[in-house]
Amino acid sequence: AQYCLTLLPCWSECTQLPNVPNAKVVDRKTSYQKGDSVSFNCDTGFISGRQIRFLCSDSGWTPAPGGVCRLKPCPLPEDIPNGYYLMSIGDEFAFGTTIKYICNEGYQMGSKEDTRTCLLDGWSNHVPVCEPLSCDVPPQTPGVTVKGLPSEGEYILPDRFLSFSCDSPDSTLNGSATLICGKNGQWDHPFPNCLDLCTLPSSNPNMKVTVPAGHSVTVECVRDGSSTQLQCLRSGQWSSTFPTCTNTKNCGPPPPLENGDFLASGQTFRQNSRVRYQCQAVYVMEGEPYKTCLNGEWTGEIKCLKPCTVNPDLMGPNNLRFKHGSKQKLYAPHNDHITFTCIDGTYPVGSEGMRRICEDGVMRLPTCA
Ligand SMILES: *[C@@H]1O[C@H](CO)[C@@H](O)[C@H](O)[C@H]1NC(C)=O
Repeated sequence: AQYCLTLLPCWSECTQLPNVPNAKVVDRKTSYQKGDSVSFNCDTGFISGRQIRFLCSDSGWTPAPGGVCRLKPCPLPEDIPNGYYLMSIGDEFAFGTTIKYICNEGYQMGSKEDTRTCLLDGWSNHVPVCEPLSCDVPPQTPGVTVKGLPSEGEYILPDRFLSFSCDSPDSTLNGSATLICGKNGQWDHPFPNCLDLCTLPSSNPNMKVTVPAGHSVTVECVRDGSSTQLQCLRSGQWSSTFPTCTNTKNCGPPPPLENGDFLASGQTFRQNSRVRYQCQAVYVMEGEPYKTCLNGEWTGEIKCLKPCTVNPDLMGPNNLRFKHGSKQKLYAPHNDHITFTCIDGTYPVGSEGMRRICEDGVMRLPTCA
């Protein structure tokens, strides 16, 4: 039925478009009248057998024989050897569905992508591959020999074992000599390495005692009570000279020091004892203020450097006086300066200046004339 009023547009049974799920109308018009038809296209990812059409009749929209829009299907996914797939998103092999491949026990995923998604043009990604679980090939290390490796390109399968040995008789294996590839594709021990050996001194020529690199020994000399820790380096050398414990003697009292003194008491001092010295006032210590007892001798160079004294008797012949102050006499410790000036009516001789340094009790005075 169609009702037309003068001022309003015609009203027909076909005002409202039919509701077609997952589809959009083609060429929408503002109004439809009896005899008009309307078509729908499926949304992306959906398909229908033939195009969906409706005809406007007296009783409203009548569907033409067609179909509905349903999800676009994908072909049945490929099966893989040594694995299977599960539906991960969705429940039919159709657009938007994702499947996930899983490897059987004893196998591991060898492909980067283990999922495939049904897209417009079929399944995404490649068919994944399940590889047998296998252990890593040991790294090649100089000085280490590995036996039991499979040929190039072959997997190291569970239960396979490798044996390791060191090439040099002067080195020792650090770790297990036999490694077994486990069911989980992991070795039962870390790969071993070879460590060089350090030899301990021995008085018996038929006996060789060694320590592997990375280990330490402590050597104690019983007579003087000294103790030294040595480490066996990667090179098979000891970290410092091995003590002999033969010529270590105690020292007597420390030697006296001119213009100084030491801070210790006692008649005998052990190996490595250290005694502190200090200089008398105005004297300056040169070097480390210690002497050390080594094999019965006190070692360490120490000196107390002398101050300089300047008085009128010294300045008179050179026509000098002190620049600052009216003192009769001045002291300057080692490395300190005194500045002079000429007495009235005289002038400096030479170009060395009037500021002079004291060097271990010696100061070269300037001259005025
Ligand atoms: C000895 O082997 C262990 C275990 O693999 C390792 O941690 C260590 O660093 C090795 N020692 C040396 C000195 O290389």
